[in-house]
Amino acid sequence: MSELKRTFRYLRPYTREAVLAIIFLGLVVVLDLSIPRMVQTLVDEGIGNQDMDIVLRTSLMMIGASILSATMMIGNTIFSVKASRGFEADLREDIFKKIQTYSFGNLDDLSSGQLLTRLTSDLNQIRTMMTMTLRMFTRAPLMAIISLSIMWTTNPQLTKYILILMPVTGVFITLFIRKLQPLFTKTQEKLEQLNQVLEENLSGIRIVKAFVRRDYEGTRFKSANKELTDISVRVNQLIGVLFPLTLLIMNTGIVAIIYFGGIQVIQGSTTVGTIIAFTNYVFSAMFPIMMLSMMAGQISFAEASAKRIMEVLDNEPEIKEKLDAVQLAEVKGRVEFKNVSFSYREDGGDPVLHNVNFTAEPGETVAILGSTGSGKSSLIHLIPRFYDVSDGKVLIDGYDVRDVEPKSIRKHIGISLQEAILFSGTIRDNIRYGRPEATDEEVIEAAKAAQAHEFIIGFPEGYDTNVGQRGVNLSGGQKQRIAIARALLVKPSILILDDSTSAVDVETEIKIEEALEELMKNRTSFIIAQRISTVLNADKIIVLDDGNIAAEGTHDQLIQTSPIYKEIYDSQLGDGGAQ
Ligand code: GTP
Ligand code: MG
Repeated sequence: MSELKRTFRYLRPYTREAVLAIIFLGLVVVLDLSIPRMVQTLVDEGIGNQDMDIVLRTSLMMIGASILSATMMIGNTIFSVKASRGFEADLREDIFKKIQTYSFGNLDDLSSGQLLTRLTSDLNQIRTMMTMTLRMFTRAPLMAIISLSIMWTTNPQLTKYILILMPVTGVFITLFIRKLQPLFTKTQEKLEQLNQVLEENLSGIRIVKAFVRRDYEGTRFKSANKELTDISVRVNQLIGVLFPLTLLIMNTGIVAIIYFGGIQVIQGSTTVGTIIAFTNYVFSAMFPIMMLSMMAGQISFAEASAKRIMEVLDNEPEIKEKLDAVQLAEVKGRVEFKNVSFSYREDGGDPVLHNVNFTAEPGETVAILGSTGSGKSSLIHLIPRFYDVSDGKVLIDGYDVRDVEPKSIRKHIGISLQEAILFSGTIRDNIRYGRPEATDEEVIEAAKAAQAHEFIIGFPEGYDTNVGQRGVNLSGGQKQRIAIARALLVKPSILILDDSTSAVDVETEIKIEEALEELMKNRTSFIIAQRISTVLNADKIIVLDDGNIAAEGTHDQLIQTSPIYKEIYDSQLGDGGAQ
């Protein structure tokens, strides 16, 4: 219950609606329970005394009570829906806001698929629980208490039989719930497994087709689907047994009322109307106990969901901003790594970077070379502080990046990540993403430098072409160039291009290189490239090998001193090279 309780604070702004919903519900219960009382009057005083007047009056009152009860129920619905939907929207907004504060490290732990499930189906589970609380769950105990008190005041002796039956049913249902609860948890787990399979399959459906793995995926899906079905069938069968059994107990109660009540009627100590009213009240008194089984299921589902949602909300961004963080109004672009070691795992793990030292002076172009997995991307991710170093320092203009407000550094950094991600929207909007106020001329200038202008104006709608959504799907190289333009448009002091031209042909790559040279004159740039030809002119080349700087210097220096650099050079451009 605890996690679920914590979500209840999101109901606070809707206290008024929630209270009104419950008041309406209370009125519904009172009205509904007044009806058996009227039946009693109708039977005993109307029919018993053959008084047509009473029969008519009571009937009309019963109809009136029914109409009023229906109206109140509508009132309850209006307010409970308002409260629970508002609750849901606020909670959703908070989860969304929280996710926006996540750092890269947090996002490595919780996949976007998992986050999406929590934002949708888990949230839905809690909202259903909230709606039911405001509509049915509250009604049940109210009904039990009121009907028992009415029964007690009219005929305490008959009420005793019901009071004996109630704990029996209670114990019986508790046993059932004990058995059901673990099954519910399991159902939820199986559901998540199925979602996982579905998610992977849907996002990777092209790979599935390409590798002709439809049958394999089909089997995976089938077994996950079957497991969920099996467990759901068991749960529902159990519930299915529970209901008739409680009904049986209830009917036993009714028989007891009629039997013992019948004796009382014969002895003249009670009336037939009372017995009829009582049989109705038995139902209302036992109803909540039946409800309990439904509630138990709903609550355990909601509790499981609340736990997952709270996990998202409790997750603290790994990158913490200092309270007295420095605001950098201007960045010259001096980047320095001082004895930097870095590991993705907090508990140490295998360091990805070991004792890295280098300095990039403002305006310099630094090329980073190294085999795949050597730590190039990891290294440049430390500059905008996507992750914190495990040891050492990353300094920008002499400031430790941990002492500076991350926003104020990132504003001055233009970055194109290894995987070019574009948003749905026009090409123009994508290029302008980092600086929405940029003019069309600036967008075109950036696109030209990134060698994207030509192909963009080749589209019928040019810069207004829609990316992704049904419209045009861009090629890998085209996406990369738009991502470069997006990074350039920020007019950053520090430009980082992570393998941004891997899908671009050599000729275009060289053109981008040339254009950058002009554009990046007073800016520091970090270029990760697979092709050595594009980095020959860099002011500094850093060769990474398994997280260590194996060599550092200009091309002319390295070709003389670094065997590892010479090897890369020879394999690509030297005598034995393919080009
Ligand atoms: P390429 O892009 O393939 O050329 O490699 P890279 O030089 O950019 O390597 P990168 O810095 O991405 O990875 C270096 C090492 O860190 C590799 O051994 C990866 O397995 C590991 N690594 C990369 N990203 C993550 C991550 O998010 N979590 C963890 N735990 N390890 C990671
Ligand atoms: Mg990389």
